[in-house]
Amino acid sequence: MHLTHLLRAATAGLIAATALTAAAHTAEAADTLGSAAAGQGRYFGTAVAASHLGESDYAATLDREFTSVTPENEMKWDATEPTRGGFTFTAADQIVNHAQSHGMDVRGHTLVWHSQLPSWVSPLGATDLRTAMNSHITQLMTHYKGEIHSWDVVNEAFQDGSSGARRSSPFQDKLGDGFIEEAFRTARAADPAAKLCYNDYNTDGVNAKSNAVYAMVKDFKARGVPIDCVGFQSHFNSASPVPADYQANLQRFADLGVDVQITELDIEGSGTAQATSYGNVVKACLAVSRCTGLTVWGVTDKYSWRSSGTPLLFDGSYAKKPAYNAVLTALGGTGGGTDPGTGAACTATYSTDAQWNDGYNGKVTVTAGTAPVGAWTTTVTLTAPQKVTAVWNATATWDSSGNVMTVKPSWNGSLAAGASTSFGFTVAKNGSVAVPTVGTCTAS
Ligand code: XIL
Repeated sequence: MHLTHLLRAATAGLIAATALTAAAHTAEAADTLGSAAAGQGRYFGTAVAASHLGESDYAATLDREFTSVTPENEMKWDATEPTRGGFTFTAADQIVNHAQSHGMDVRGHTLVWHSQLPSWVSPLGATDLRTAMNSHITQLMTHYKGEIHSWDVVNEAFQDGSSGARRSSPFQDKLGDGFIEEAFRTARAADPAAKLCYNDYNTDGVNAKSNAVYAMVKDFKARGVPIDCVGFQSHFNSASPVPADYQANLQRFADLGVDVQITELDIEGSGTAQATSYGNVVKACLAVSRCTGLTVWGVTDKYSWRSSGTPLLFDGSYAKKPAYNAVLTALGGTGGGTDPGTGAACTATYSTDAQWNDGYNGKVTVTAGTAPVGAWTTTVTLTAPQKVTAVWNATATWDSSGNVMTVKPSWNGSLAAGASTSFGFTVAKNGSVAVPTVGTCTAS
């Protein structure tokens, strides 16, 4: 313990509790998702919409927490080339500029996809379609050359279900299986610095669809077709939960010699169940050395594409949800509070120290759970007409009855996993021999 803390502890019994409030040290600053992920050598990103950047809470949360952004819709074909050869980059540029001025990386999403495709594309004949596809890739990648850390070159080209077949699309139907290889070769030529990813959903565990993608990536690597990464969208809900073999599946792709990225993570639900699933996804990524980063599919539940499922880390008021704490804790960050997998974040227990005729000193020991704690709060309830006359190693506020005090740390908020601190208080009995009760300990 620091000398000033010892002095404070020794003399505090003489000082009124209110005086201690002013002298309180600040608990250690909490990590952010981005800083904690950086400590693990990973980025932590989010999808963003240009239209929300002007909302101050949205921008503040984005800028504080995230180190990578993916335009949620602004780089898609319908947004960037709504008419043939008519390119518009205004909204996408807004996101890229915002990211660059805040030191964030940008994921490019997405060049070739059957969805959000403008109506002029599908009627084209094979030759024209091939030209249009390669031109679209080249124009976008050239506009953002050197500014995109990873591009989703092809998105969602395989069918769901047990067939492992390609999905029908204008590209598949007119150009055949070779369209993916051609798109990747064109992309490599346009911006050799960008990592080139294949991105899909329902490929998060080992199944027929992921097996088909795996076979394609293996073939590409064997033949020297340029591919650097595979994106796992990771949209989860009760019908499609985080698979038990998620980590094993990421690992088998990594073993092919590509990076893997969690690209569109969202998990419908709430509370502890949602938090546990989020924590498991982060732990799986961290366990795979080639899993280079995670992106959640939005900042706040209120703007999620699945907003009724409240699938994100911040609620509609930008408050951190239990899922946020689970992600931060899994990333090794401090300030994440409770570890949903292991129960309470902290416990508080009472004992009586010195006693005399007319009073006694109470002591409360606060112990962190299995995760580090940045700050803690508990309550102590007395029986009238007892009165607290002093508090030390904590700051206290009373409810209107004067019997319930809410106690927060002074200098001693930050606790390593399993570590303890204590605070004390002096009580004037005023004729009552009742013993105080201590409430639940909550951590942040
Ligand atoms: C979604 C966006 O979130 C929505 O705003 C839009 O209306 C439809 O597309 N897979 C993808 C993403 O690769 O581009 C999709 O994004 C979600 C599923």
